[in-house]
Amino acid sequence: MADNLETLGSNDNKWLGAYKDVHMNVFGTPLRVMDHGEGAHLWDVDGNEYLDFLGGIAVNALGYAHPAWVKAIAEQAAKVAHVSNYFATEPQIELASRLVELAGAPKGSHVYFGNSGAEGNEAAIKLAKLYGRTLPGALPDIGGKPARILAMTHGFHGRTLGALSATWKPAIRKPFEPLVPAIEFVEAGSVESLQRAFNETGLGHYGKGPVAAVIMEMIQGEAGVVPLGADYVKAARELCDRHHALLIIDEVQCGIGRTGKWFSFQREDLSGGITPDAITFAKGVAGGFPMGGLIAFGDKLSSLFTPGSHGSTFAGNPLGAAAGLATLKVIEDENLLANVEERGRQLREGLASLDNPLFGEVRGRGLLDAVQLAHPCAHAVADWALQRGLIVNAVAPNALRFAPPLIITEHDVDQCLEILSGVPADLPDD
Ligand SMILES: Cc1ncc(COP(=O)(O)O)c(C=O)c1O
Repeated sequence: MADNLETLGSNDNKWLGAYKDVHMNVFGTPLRVMDHGEGAHLWDVDGNEYLDFLGGIAVNALGYAHPAWVKAIAEQAAKVAHVSNYFATEPQIELASRLVELAGAPKGSHVYFGNSGAEGNEAAIKLAKLYGRTLPGALPDIGGKPARILAMTHGFHGRTLGALSATWKPAIRKPFEPLVPAIEFVEAGSVESLQRAFNETGLGHYGKGPVAAVIMEMIQGEAGVVPLGADYVKAARELCDRHHALLIIDEVQCGIGRTGKWFSFQREDLSGGITPDAITFAKGVAGGFPMGGLIAFGDKLSSLFTPGSHGSTFAGNPLGAAAGLATLKVIEDENLLANVEERGRQLREGLASLDNPLFGEVRGRGLLDAVQLAHPCAHAVADWALQRGLIVNAVAPNALRFAPPLIITEHDVDQCLEILSGVPADLPDD
């Protein structure tokens, strides 16, 4: 595969022209038009094959067309695909129970299902707002000030307006300001910055409202796969406890086995062994079917949502739930958490030992990894690799991200490394 230099073919060109005619230009021009996939491989409409080390951005946990996943969706579609939330279905109930169990959440914990990561975080932000209203000093009717939510610099939580309010990157947030009020940023990884934000709470003219919640990712994926650090997360947990604030962990990118545990907060080396108050999930949960949501830990927090507090037509959709159950079962049956750990180590060690001056620091856990580049040419590297049949992601101008399906094999990793070993070190900067 590495020897066949692939370029845009006539079918790709034709479809990309048609794409531009009818799609809003929010994603830029797609790199290829894809036709089908199998395992960790994709084929475009011209028949070119790609080894996929991006996995639909950490979504396709089982790769493409896994037989158990296809069967589960086909059988559910033949049975019932949608019923509305006036009714429930068995897969939905089973998936919620399974997720609570896998998260190790205490008895009384509850799930809200949505359709994406942003929606999971919208739900978490709304729940945090309701929680904030229970804190002393936060009730406007008696002179209180709105409770605040603290988010991290460089964090990413989605692009809907609530989630965007907690998303740091100024280029994507600023054009839409003013956003949801009382969401503030603290410097990621700095205990002092977090402490300062908590200390701003106060009565009288000068103080701010209390902190309802702190939201963070264990590894900031969109920032270039940067772990926050176990010591920091532990300190944040302690501050939250001291100030009666919730700690919400966004597991959208890191969860569902991606870091080698079901959820990244379960990795001691990422979280320091803390227990969150709520987690959000999406991406890998249904192996490519759009699904996401929120788990509130414990009955007290869960019970703040009452009928009408939140909802979505497709929430808990049985097709998605069947896809989710199949995904979780395959991860377990095929022992994929161990595979994630081993293949991740192989990938990181392989990247670190590439004899190419372009490649620097390697970071990440499990199969969410990145390599720092000596100069900002990540897009050129990703294009170069794509032409040789390898999909990797230019997550930042000077970092490549890897988030392959959890099913990748030792041979797949070897092949990825072999292709990358040939990247010219002097590709042009982005
Ligand atoms: C950590 C994190 N949270 C939330 C989101 C938003 O998820 P979605 O794109 O499904 O809305 C993403 C997407 O990349 C993410 O990485």
